[in-house]
Amino acid sequence: MGVEKDIERVLISAEELEAHVAEIGAQISRDFEGKDPIFIGVLKGCFIFMADLMRHVTIRCSMDFMAVSSYSGTTSTGAVKINKDLSEDIEGRHIIIVEDILDSGVTLNYLKNFLMVRKPASISIATLMDKPARRKADVYADYSCFEIPDAFVVGYGLDYNERYRNLPYIGVLKSEIYS
Ligand code: IMP
Ligand code: MG
Repeated sequence: MGVEKDIERVLISAEELEAHVAEIGAQISRDFEGKDPIFIGVLKGCFIFMADLMRHVTIRCSMDFMAVSSYSGTTSTGAVKINKDLSEDIEGRHIIIVEDILDSGVTLNYLKNFLMVRKPASISIATLMDKPARRKADVYADYSCFEIPDAFVVGYGLDYNERYRNLPYIGVLKSEIYS
């Protein structure tokens, strides 16, 4: 059975995603020229955004991934767990954390502090979406493709209980799916 039937409405189309991600890729390329940054993707939600973003980054750089879990269902548990750590040494390097969505900010705040201890030259945050209405932790995005209202969204890498990541756009889930 298809997954489209569970979507209330398309919030961000595939065309809009492509255009804004390209813009952020170009901006990061200008800002980090000559700095050889490491892009750190936060799995699993980042995987499509990161893949598209990196194809618009034109400078010398490297990539690594971390896996963290902080969520079950649509509400944050508040607890952050590192499921996969980095494989590269980040001391003295410029790092850019690539996230799918900045919601309460609890995850990114924890990650920033976790990575800070390893003495990188700088830490920046690139997020696909920002939901500022729900912010609890004092953390902001240096690069954000879309500011969105307080709705639970799926697609383009984002899930609800591991489903819907494969949708090519960002959609709002029908409320009966999670009620
Ligand atoms: P935060 O710690 O509350 O900022 O949550 C960040 C993580 O929660 C994101 O990386 C997502 O995995 C997940 N998340 C937050 N809002 C949504 C949403 O609307 N849809 C899907 N996942 C979400
Ligand atoms: Mg995530």
